[in-house]
Amino acid sequence: MTLATASRDGSPYIDDVVRAFVIATIFWGVVAFLAGTFIALQLAFPVLNLGLEWTTFGRLRPLHTSAAIFAFGGSGLIGSSLFIVQRTCRASLFGGRPVGWFIFWGYQFFIVIAALGYVLGITQSKEYAEPEWYADLWLTVVWVVYLVAFLGTLIKREEPHIYVANWFLLAFIVTVAMLHLVNNAFVPVSFFGAKSYVVWSGVRDAMIQWWYAHNAVGFFLTAGFLGMMYYFIPKRAQRPVYSYRLSIVHFWSLIFLYIWAGPHHLHYTALPDWAQTLGMTFSVMLWMPSWGGMINGLMTLSGAWDRLRTDPGLRFSVTAVGFYGMSTFEGPVMSIKAVNALSHYTDWTVGHVHSGALGWVAFIIFGTLYYLVPVLWKRERVYSERLIGWHYWIATAGIVLYITAMWVSGIMQGLMWRAYDELGFLQYAFVETVAAMFPYYVIRAMGGVLFVIGALIMTYNLWKTMRGELRREAAIPDYRPGAALAR
Ligand code: HEM
Ligand code: HEM
Repeated sequence: MTLATASRDGSPYIDDVVRAFVIATIFWGVVAFLAGTFIALQLAFPVLNLGLEWTTFGRLRPLHTSAAIFAFGGSGLIGSSLFIVQRTCRASLFGGRPVGWFIFWGYQFFIVIAALGYVLGITQSKEYAEPEWYADLWLTVVWVVYLVAFLGTLIKREEPHIYVANWFLLAFIVTVAMLHLVNNAFVPVSFFGAKSYVVWSGVRDAMIQWWYAHNAVGFFLTAGFLGMMYYFIPKRAQRPVYSYRLSIVHFWSLIFLYIWAGPHHLHYTALPDWAQTLGMTFSVMLWMPSWGGMINGLMTLSGAWDRLRTDPGLRFSVTAVGFYGMSTFEGPVMSIKAVNALSHYTDWTVGHVHSGALGWVAFIIFGTLYYLVPVLWKRERVYSERLIGWHYWIATAGIVLYITAMWVSGIMQGLMWRAYDELGFLQYAFVETVAAMFPYYVIRAMGGVLFVIGALIMTYNLWKTMRGELRREAAIPDYRPGAALAR
């Protein structure tokens, strides 16, 4: 039997668009990791700001966060969602090729105009929502087309069931649309100056911003990638999802709880105390569905754990689920007010972010890419399975360096800021706390360099795979994506 390449009614799946998204994901991944490593070096060696306004940390930081989340993560999500929805519905993409290509080029155009704005200093000054109104409006158009294409494919499906991955993907698309519209309610005041003012004021604006940002974590960085987990792990392990019932409980509890947790970003601020406590309570409750999902992902491998030895690509996906569990344990702990009093504004938060971003988001994408490239380019396997192994270990070492350095520096930072001497004066000047961070910033940057090296190895390996080359190596045994899929 061969891999199905057409829907039940015979029309071919729109896979060339997915292929383009795969290439974009690899490209933006390398850009984002390079930018991250560069700004990590800037924090250790400020001379790297280069004395130019366009290359200062302040302008390159949003370039890094947006390149990582929206360009790398977004391209990976949209591309794989188009692959998943067509396969699980046994239907080709609603709207066909023109709609697929519009989504691809429209989204890439958004990324480019947003990135140009950052470097030129054009910004709404809202974290993760920096692009000005013109880019926001364009993204709205692209996103609505994406929603219609996804929903249309679901509606014309040839399968009675809507597979659980699609539930998560649809929640991602719909919620991101809602967040984008509410948080970007800006009134433009100049056309060529690209300047606008937000309609919300004061603490309401802060609340809406962090409702947005936290749910960007919940629905962009989590729900969408859970969709990936629920499709690619069972596929790759050739096992059904451990518990379908648990996946439904996971879905409803996750989306219900996430939406209330935003205020944990505003502890000890002007936000009413009850709202902070509400955010904390919902964050602690979020631990349950998060771990339910993790258990469901990991237990899907029961009886197939040996595949981790033989299938290096699957190792990425499974390690990603482990990191998901770790960061969704750390997050609820950090949301507890007494803990947040220490962690807030420190590098601990940055460490938490990257255990999620590198360990969960980037690793689940890498696992997906190692699956998708041989399938989409119709190759028996990836060019070199040994190189996947190298990528895995180098990237894992990079993450460990990154997050352990940030834990130590973050907790040290928090403790130094609050240390008093016997006369009741602050024990350390702020600049002393900055100087103390130096070795950890160097270690973090080294972690970044390792992560970049891993990504370059992957790029080489996948490029060779696309060209149809196979490296002769003592076969790591029985895993061949093309062959496995046929079963
Ligand atoms: C080579 C890999 C990476 C390196 C070296 C790196 C480095 C950095 C650095 C230095 C910062 C600024 C921290 C600060 O302001 O103190 C940062 C922020 C951030 N990065 Fe990365 N990064 C990497 C990959 C990623 C990826 C893959 C993602 C997302 C998928 C990501 C998401 C973020 C976010 C959301 C922030 C803002 C964190 C906050 O405000 O607390 N990064 N990164
Ligand atoms: C149960 C799940 C989670 C909870 C309850 C949670 C909670 C938290 C808390 C309390 C903070 C610190 C807020 C502050 O002091 O400013 C935070 C920051 C953050 N978390 Fe999580 N987290 C969770 C999962 C994740 C995951 C899986 C990711 C990434 C994939 C992630 C990404 C972030 C980002 C990007 C920030 C930094 C926001 C900023 O200040 O710019 N979180 N989270």
